[in-house]
Amino acid sequence: MKILAFETSCDDTGVAVIENGTKVLANVRHSQVEHNEWGGVVPEIAARLHSEKWRAVLKKCLQDAHCTIEDIDALAVTAGPGLQTSLLVGTTVSSFLSLFYKKKLIPVHHIAGHISSVVLERDLADFKFPFLSLVASGGHTDFYVGQSFSDLTRVGQAIDDASGEAFDKVAKLLNLGYPGGPIVSERAEKGDSNKYKLPRPLLEKDSLNFSFSGVKAAVFRLVQEAKDPKDEQFIADVCASFEQTVVDIFLKKLDRALDKYPDTKAIHFVGGVSANKRLRGEIDKFCQLNGIQFMTTKKFVYSTDNAAMIGAAAYFQYEKNPEIAQTQFVDANPQLVLQ
Ligand code: KG4
Ligand code: ZN
Repeated sequence: MKILAFETSCDDTGVAVIENGTKVLANVRHSQVEHNEWGGVVPEIAARLHSEKWRAVLKKCLQDAHCTIEDIDALAVTAGPGLQTSLLVGTTVSSFLSLFYKKKLIPVHHIAGHISSVVLERDLADFKFPFLSLVASGGHTDFYVGQSFSDLTRVGQAIDDASGEAFDKVAKLLNLGYPGGPIVSERAEKGDSNKYKLPRPLLEKDSLNFSFSGVKAAVFRLVQEAKDPKDEQFIADVCASFEQTVVDIFLKKLDRALDKYPDTKAIHFVGGVSANKRLRGEIDKFCQLNGIQFMTTKKFVYSTDNAAMIGAAAYFQYEKNPEIAQTQFVDANPQLVLQ
């Protein structure tokens, strides 16, 4: 089954063709650098750029996949959550294509997309169930238990800032630009991760929820009190100490999650923050120590927002319930709940 998938929930215009959930025939993305100077995504700019770019991205995707829309079995689109103005571009374009070409359209939850990203370019037979997925992105830091890729239950979430948002805010406080994750982790390489002791809020004893706003506030105070906040070594040490804090919080929460869900056969690490090599390495080590399977995306491009993961999730959801494919409009829903 070939699915043509669209992802426009934030600041990446993505179109992909995915065969049977795992095979990537084409995956094209246009990332909007225009937000960098604002230190965060500006919804109006994002929507305008999606509207300008989707045709070129779709054209390149179909060329790469060596197919036309007639060859496609179904369309898929991120219906939410995300920025309303951005979501609207993808849902409107795919709804019209669905009507025009008389193809089914599968609405996909963005987080179900991230959770499915681990299967891209892999064999489904290699996966173990149930898995525990740590989804760490700019808007979410969630734990899901997956009995399969279409049977997902949220068991933990960020109660304030998401981990990616914390990376972005730390970068903004240090004047490093946007998105913060890759820059902070690059600067951290030359820093001392024990230099500053930042809070590691773990919440109630058995909580699998996350809180990053206190960590961000502590970095704010460090910057305020610094003699020279532009000093390269100061910046590197803050970045390294912050990254270490995220590592410690994630490992502690994973430990708790294994206590709470002892049947877990695999830990998956997905979402934009999972592009972080240090975090990947530490979670991999943790899994080896605990004798369970570790999975993250095969390529870094599948960690940050992309349409390939939406095509994968659409396949699993369609397989479970073909009724979810609609032939009418898909509504954009910024607060969509994953059921
Ligand atoms: O999943 P994603 O592309 O978009 C959302 O759904 O939010 O995640 C974007 C987030 C940003 O906050 C970005 O700073 C973070 O992922 N990120 C990283 C890295 N690369 C991207 N965070 C830490 N280390 C990285 N290497
Ligand atoms: Zn995302």
